[in-house]
Amino acid sequence: MISRNQALALDAIDPLKDFRQQFILPEKIIYLDGNSLGALPKRTPIYLQEIIQKQWGEDLIKSWNLHNWIHWPQTVGTKIARLIGAKPHEVIVADSTSVNLFKLLAGALKLRPDRRTILSEKSNFPTDLYMAQGLLALLEKDYQLKIVEREMLIESIDHSVALVMVTEVNYLTGHRHNLKTLAEAAHGQGALILVDLAHSAGAMPVDLNQNSIDLAVGCGYKYLNGGPGAPAYLYISEALQADFPAFLAGWLGHADPFAFTENYVPAFGMNRHLCGTPPILSLAALDCGLNICLEADLQAIRQKSLALGDLFIDQVEAHCPELVLATPRDPERRGSQVSFHHSHGYAVMQALIAQGVIGDFRSPDIIRFGFAPLYNRYVDIWDAADQLCEILKNRTWSEPQFQQRQTVT
Ligand SMILES: Cc1ncc(COP(=O)(O)O)c(C=O)c1O
Repeated sequence: MISRNQALALDAIDPLKDFRQQFILPEKIIYLDGNSLGALPKRTPIYLQEIIQKQWGEDLIKSWNLHNWIHWPQTVGTKIARLIGAKPHEVIVADSTSVNLFKLLAGALKLRPDRRTILSEKSNFPTDLYMAQGLLALLEKDYQLKIVEREMLIESIDHSVALVMVTEVNYLTGHRHNLKTLAEAAHGQGALILVDLAHSAGAMPVDLNQNSIDLAVGCGYKYLNGGPGAPAYLYISEALQADFPAFLAGWLGHADPFAFTENYVPAFGMNRHLCGTPPILSLAALDCGLNICLEADLQAIRQKSLALGDLFIDQVEAHCPELVLATPRDPERRGSQVSFHHSHGYAVMQALIAQGVIGDFRSPDIIRFGFAPLYNRYVDIWDAADQLCEILKNRTWSEPQFQQRQTVT
């Protein structure tokens, strides 16, 4: 436990402290939800205005060539590749995480034609499981999605498994997988491995190549600060790309889209996974978020993220014993979030938000706090813990206005 002044002293010597000035953050708000929607970079509205007025407004359709819009999915993908330990030509930006999951799941099954199982874990993010279920509904009956407890993953990998699908950092608990161990176990049985990086990219160093990961997806709107509904990305290791089919065979994934021929011929490498027209304004916003991440040292981000997590856990556990920690205490095993169980978690979070501390709630009973080291300060974490404990002590959460569930929690 530390005092508020000690938290302020930590901020004064924080090597990342200047990054906060690059974001628009409302006064009197402590924002601990960057793991759901990253904050707005100051440069984003300025850049978007330029793209809208100059490129779209004046140069109109010429911009696809003049400003190279047509290649933005690749150029922005190259920047993401630097954050996730991939080669520049192994990542492309396209569609949503969900759609990209479908592309990779379908292709992976095709690469392992004698195997019928996709193996995943019980508390994987629902869209990962749903996309697999949707795909399997298209296929013959003997395909299955096998969902096991996290602890059972490795021992469940056998020769029937085509693909092991995990999310590196669990969206509920913040539990982080050891990707190297999982990849070795999958490859040892001849299976492929697909990793969802939604809660890791931008919040810690990720090294897909070093850990021999075959396939990955991730989204742009969390720690990459790309804005609401920012485009997502997909990664296919170089070794698999030549044989990796594109079943969502859109015209921009064609080898020669402007030949407008009748039959689909896949483009080379990642380009075949593009599908349709890229969302240029959203790509521009994502690019702004990424440029900030690329200026920062990922090791420093990780160190601060864990220190913020430690501080939050220590303060909360010391002052509000009724909250039950859902996140691993061991820094090696957690991502950049801390979660607690509380039977009235929704109301507790609503009461906290009403006081200006923004986290979120995940059913059935998890209150979640994400730490974005580029703009969260030690003192924010100290104050957030303090307010959370006050709300619990005074039972402020039991007031009627905090019980009404909204659509987005
Ligand atoms: C692990 C994970 N995967 C995927 C998604 C969402 O996918 P999409 O971008 O398609 O909405 C989320 C959203 O929070 C997530 O946490």
